[in-house]
This record gives sequence, structure tokens and C-alpha cells, in this order.
Amino acid sequence: MDSVKKVDEGNENTQPHDEASGDRSSIQDDEKSDESNDGVNTDPALHERNITIEEPPSSTDVSSEVIDISDTDGEDDVDNFIPVAAGIQYLVKRADNNWYPATVIHRRPGDTELFEYLVHYENFNRRLDEWVTRDRIRRETSLEEQTIPCFGEYTARFSSGLPRVTRSRQRKHDEINHVQKAIEEMDPTTAAIEREHEAVTKIKYIDKIQIGNYEVDTWYFSPYPEMYARVKKLWICQYCLLYMKYENTYRHHLGDCKHVHPPGKEIYRKGAISMWEIDGVHHKLFCQNLCLLSKLFLDHKAVYFDVEPFLFYVMSETSRDGSRLVGYFSKEKKSLDGNNVACILILPQFQRKGFGKFLISFSYELSKLENAIGSPEKPLSDLGKLSYRSYWSWVLLDVLRDFRGTISIKELSDKTFIAQTDIVSTLQALNMVKYWRGQQTICVTPKLVQQYLKDSELKVPKIIVDPLHLKWAPRKKLPNPIKNK
Ligand code: ACO
Ligand code: ZN
Repeated sequence: MDSVKKVDEGNENTQPHDEASGDRSSIQDDEKSDESNDGVNTDPALHERNITIEEPPSSTDVSSEVIDISDTDGEDDVDNFIPVAAGIQYLVKRADNNWYPATVIHRRPGDTELFEYLVHYENFNRRLDEWVTRDRIRRETSLEEQTIPCFGEYTARFSSGLPRVTRSRQRKHDEINHVQKAIEEMDPTTAAIEREHEAVTKIKYIDKIQIGNYEVDTWYFSPYPEMYARVKKLWICQYCLLYMKYENTYRHHLGDCKHVHPPGKEIYRKGAISMWEIDGVHHKLFCQNLCLLSKLFLDHKAVYFDVEPFLFYVMSETSRDGSRLVGYFSKEKKSLDGNNVACILILPQFQRKGFGKFLISFSYELSKLENAIGSPEKPLSDLGKLSYRSYWSWVLLDVLRDFRGTISIKELSDKTFIAQTDIVSTLQALNMVKYWRGQQTICVTPKLVQQYLKDSELKVPKIIVDPLHLKWAPRKKLPNPIKNK
């Protein structure tokens, strides 16, 4: 799976500035000059000039069927003599040393070998796509012996006598790995959109980023300006989010950067956690850089450069050195659909610590102050769905725990500021919606609620938003289009 590597804490500032990096003024000159610029994009206009996503050069054109027959010289394994073709399925060895069916998407010159190949593992989320060397690719012969099926961890468990996989576990696995409908199963419009999306975004050139002390594997393509888009590793300042091609430039920037926390207004602080409200109009470059960075971890994200209609709520964690980015959510200043979140992200190195549910909870605290029922923009990603479902379930069960009598979905919505459609889907997932006399009926008993609250899968959020520490008021009363929907 994707990985995050923590680099030695002292590393950042101990490296001497290489002469090649020059002083700050020379970097700025480089920036203005031409494509030899190795440096720092300090101009939002650069983003506007670089929105187009170029076709890959013809030498590595994905459309050419057989893309490699020449890099096998000197290999002993006869399997290595087979040509590797784009669009063809092979067996590819993942980090767990098992072989999985995967399709080759593209190739590029390698660091240690002539070529590296971008592969997509069948039935796994595209964030697991990765560049592999030739020795990790084999023909699909003797499939039964060599592959672990896509749900291999479960198959292995069955045969090894380990616990059986329950339906909910299987569902969770499918959701995490985004086992989605095949394109052939989609309606024609959705299929066409999905095909176009895949074609434009499937080549993930930037494999890694270095941000602060962390080297992080990326998940998806992001449309960084052309002169940065083809590098294998980008260096990103964890405070101002400027991105750089070269380590030297990055280290030089760290010495120069005046920022030690996100821009905008600090609207929440408790312990080490702060939240900042940032207007896309006033901090355009920061917000664009944030969107480009977050696209590396979001499959379906459309806004990168047109940030003015959004507010960004950025979460930071404060240490001796400064207050570094942990995650954020964006929110339309005026949402016609009543969305209280457009995009939400926790950087991979900080995931699964409760920060995601903190941000979700924070978005509803803002909705409460606006007196507007809110809902996240759809579709949710697989991880988004898990996080929201976990948050909604906890909030709803918490209300229902002490409740006796009859409560309507609308009343639940008014109490929690969760949209009615989200409440119904959550109760459905909790198996609390039954068909009775041809109608959908919510069926909740105190016993059922208690049972779920005891269930280890439903956890109380690890970090709770404390409304007393929130210093914020809505700019103006927003309309609430989905109220009472
Ligand atoms: N595997 C299994 N469960 C997971 C995983 C995972 N990789 N990641 C999160 N979860 C579950 C957690 O177990 C937890 O549920 P629980 O408390 O019931 O156990 C729940 O999801 C939330 O966990 P948090 O630690 O609060 O969430 P996290 O900090 O990991 O952030 C987020 C969640 C924001 C979705 C993060 O995974 C992320 O940034 N993903 C990439 C971007 C993305 O997909 N964003 C959502 C897009 S939808 C939209 O933007 C509206
Ligand atoms: Zn900086």
C-alpha cells in the first residue's frame, strides 16, 4: 500500500545550501526567466497559464500497443523476454511479495533500469497504481498458482482457518479499495464521463512528495504546471505550500520562508490544534497550491485554480517550530446545493488519528452557527464515505440513545444539522430502515441503539471539537436550499 516515510527531524535545516541553489534573488530571476527554472512558483498566474493537460510525448505514447521489447537484454528469466504492452494485463508483484493481476498503463525511463512501468491493479483503487521495474512484471500464466485473488487477504484467511469474513467486513474492504462498478455496468453518460476522467488522469508522474519531515507516496495525478508535472518527487514547503523540483531549492527556501503557520484568520485553537479560515480571493496562491497538493490524494477533484468562490478551513498542528498543515476542507461561499463541504483531506501522514472526523464535526459546527443544514458534496470517495458514515452514525445514535418516543427524520435533521438524505442512508446502513406495508419505516429500539453503541466498529470521535474555542460568526445569513428536503 501507499507509504509515508518520516525523515529524521533534524534533517531539514542541517544540510548546507548548495551553491547551485544560489541566493534568493537568483532564484527569483530564474523563476521569471524560462523553463530551466528549478524553483518556486510565487505567481498565481502561472497556474492560469498551465491548466491544459498535455498529451504524453509520442515516444511514450500509451496508444502504441507494444511499448517495450528492448529492455530485456541480459535477463536470465525467460519470462522477462516477453514484450510488455500498454493496455495488457499481467501479473505484477506488489510490496507484499504477492503477484496480482494488473494492467500496464504507461512507461517512462527508469532510474536503475531502462524503463519503469505504471500499472493499475485490477479491482483496487487507482491510488494503488504504481511505477514498477520490469522484474516485477510476469505473464498471466498459471494464474491459480501465482496470484492471490483480488480479495486475497480474505481467501488466505479462509484457508488458514483465521476468522471468517463477515459481510460488513467485506463491504468495508470493497469500500476502502473502491471496488466500483465496471464501466460496462454504468449508464452511458456516467461511463463516458468516467472514461474521459480516467484517460486524462491516469498517468501519475509525481510519485512522491517531501513535505516537512515526511516523504509521502502520492495517490493520483495532479495538474501541476508542466515544468513540475513530470518530476518523480516534488518538494513542498509545509507552511506556504510552494512546490519545488529540487532538494537544493527546497532547502534554500526553508531558510528563507517567512511563514510559520497557514495564512488567514485563526478561528479555533485548542491545545496544539488550530483551524484557519482562508479566503480564496485574499490568498489565491496558497489556496491554489493547497488544491494541487490535495489533488494528489483525491481522485475526483475539479477545482485547482479557480479558488475565489471558496473558503478554505485549514487545520494545523503547532509545535516549537511552527504550525504545520494537517488537512483542510473547502466550502463554497454560496452553495446552491446546501453543501457545507466541497472537498476534505487529511494528509496521508496524519490519517487515521481522528483528524478527519474532527474536520467533519467542525464543518457541522459552522453549519450550526449559520443555522443551515449541510451536506458534503457528492460523490464521496471511498474513504470519505467511511469517515462520514462513521461520524453520522455516532451523532445519530448519540441523539437516539436517550430519546424515548417518536422522532421524525426532519426533527433529527434539525437537531443535528445533518441533511435528511444523509440521515436516511446512515440509518439504512445501520439496518434501521425496514419496509413495512410497502413503505420505508425507521425502526429503532433502545436495545438496537445500545447494541450499536457497544459495537467496537462504532467509535466515539478521538478528537472532539470544543465549540467554546470556536471564534467565528457567519459573514451573512446564507440561504438554506436543502432545509426540509
Ligand atoms: N481504512 C479503513 N478505515 C479508514 C481508513 C482506511 N484507510 N481511513 C479512515 N478510515 C475510517 C476510520 O477507521 C474512522 O472510522 P472509525 O472511527 O469508525 O474507526 C473513519 O474512517 C475516520 O477516521 P479519521 O481518522 O477521523 O479520518 P482520517 O483522518 O483518516 O481522514 C479522510 C479521513 C479525510 C477521508 C482521509 O482518509 C483523506 O483525506 N482521504 C483522501 C481524500 C478523500 O478521500 N477525501 C474525501 C473525499 S469526499 C469529499 O471531499 C466530500
Ligand atoms: Zn515556505
